[in-house]
Amino acid sequence: MCRFCPATVAGAGDFGERILHGVHRFTPETDRLARAVVEYALQRVRMDPPPLDGPASPAELEARVGQTITPEGIGGLEALRVFADELAPATISVDHPRYLSFIPAAPNEAAVLFDLVVGASSVYGGSWLEGAGAVYAENQALAWLTRLVGFPLTAGGTFVQGGTAGNLSALVAARDEALRRRGGHHPRRWVVATSEEAHSSIGAAAKVMDVDVLGVGTDAAHRLTGPSLSAAVETLHADDAVFAVAATAGTTNIGVVDDLDSIAAVCEERGWWMHVDGAYGLAALTVDAYRPLFRGVERADSFIVDPHKWLFAPFDSCALVYRDPAVAKAAHAQHAAYLEPIHATGEWNPSDYAVHLTRRARGLPLWFALATYGTDAFAAAIGHALDVSRQAADEIRARSDLELLLDPVLSIVLFRRHGWVGDDYAAWMQHLLEAQIAFVVPTAFQGEIVGRMAFVNPQTTIEDVRLVLDTMR
Ligand SMILES: Cc1ncc(COP(=O)(O)O)c(C=O)c1O
Repeated sequence: MCRFCPATVAGAGDFGERILHGVHRFTPETDRLARAVVEYALQRVRMDPPPLDGPASPAELEARVGQTITPEGIGGLEALRVFADELAPATISVDHPRYLSFIPAAPNEAAVLFDLVVGASSVYGGSWLEGAGAVYAENQALAWLTRLVGFPLTAGGTFVQGGTAGNLSALVAARDEALRRRGGHHPRRWVVATSEEAHSSIGAAAKVMDVDVLGVGTDAAHRLTGPSLSAAVETLHADDAVFAVAATAGTTNIGVVDDLDSIAAVCEERGWWMHVDGAYGLAALTVDAYRPLFRGVERADSFIVDPHKWLFAPFDSCALVYRDPAVAKAAHAQHAAYLEPIHATGEWNPSDYAVHLTRRARGLPLWFALATYGTDAFAAAIGHALDVSRQAADEIRARSDLELLLDPVLSIVLFRRHGWVGDDYAAWMQHLLEAQIAFVVPTAFQGEIVGRMAFVNPQTTIEDVRLVLDTMR
């Protein structure tokens, strides 16, 4: 009998023992491993703050870690040790309160812990037939977002991997609908119009779809507006067809919200699909004082918002919602002989609403956290980041060596250190990371390298900001 297997598999004989070989069996050894893994996860969740950590070079990792995949396996406890001692320290903690780069993440405890449950539960989140319970819960989380945005209750969608996948899926549905409305007639080129400040994923989606992007200039407040959209479209070739406008509710670089209401008016008049990329910023809809900024979002045809950005879920998760899900289903549902049973009952199949089939039920951590803490706690946590952004702007204004470049619209603050050029910001960023103080990468704004801080983490305080700014003296 196999020394790793406590019991022979009934009826499986030698073959059964050989293939199981301690794998896919819950042995005493598995029990030890389970406790070690769960204990590691618990300790990580408890850390307040977690270590910031930082990257290592491939050569350093090769020297420290070497080959871990062998025919016999190195054992789970040893693999966990390698992760804890070598790999995790070479991996930045995006939830550190002074991780202020890109768009940070700050998953809350309930969401992180429930992610373990999702992984342990082997949920197939693609169809109602297989994942009804999970899909029901995910749809409650989507319905909360739907209500926040002001879409009709008949709206719906799915959670996908990230904003890039969400934007692509929405635009594919938009083009499909435009083609249907044109009776199947293709124009010379399909065009998606968007702001020059839009996220790079809109361009990436256009490339995958082989459509053109019309980059529309912004107003003095860096927003895409209806009038500038109308004017830009006049420059197109006569037989080019705009099928969608991708507006942004919270641009990644500077946190600006496009003028959604005037964009919606143009889209309605011209019959264009309006998609709102709210991957980062739409979370601010939870804060009453900020709701007017998003006026017009309720008139869109689709929107995305990423729980892994400002809704405190772990990577990776993007909520994608369509005003008329039937249109998205017509574009995305996959049909095959072996798949037909999932379509038999007409229930909600998340796989029908995006470019995917098999999917992790990646909305469940958000659902669990919403159910655990309630939506008011989310609004308070998002409001905190907005408060800290305004305080950070005041702090920058008060310092003579710094200059605030924009009043923060949401939670991104752009500033200049007088006398610094690009290399100075790069060296500063490097120093902050090496000294394990903070992770703050610079950006470019109007052709100049500048400082940028993005706030989503409710643990980040104005004291953290002061600590970072003090290092610029
Ligand atoms: C506005 C916006 N849209 C789309 C994306 C892409 O999202 P993801 O990285 O989840 O693919 C981002 C990422 O920062 C973003 O800020």
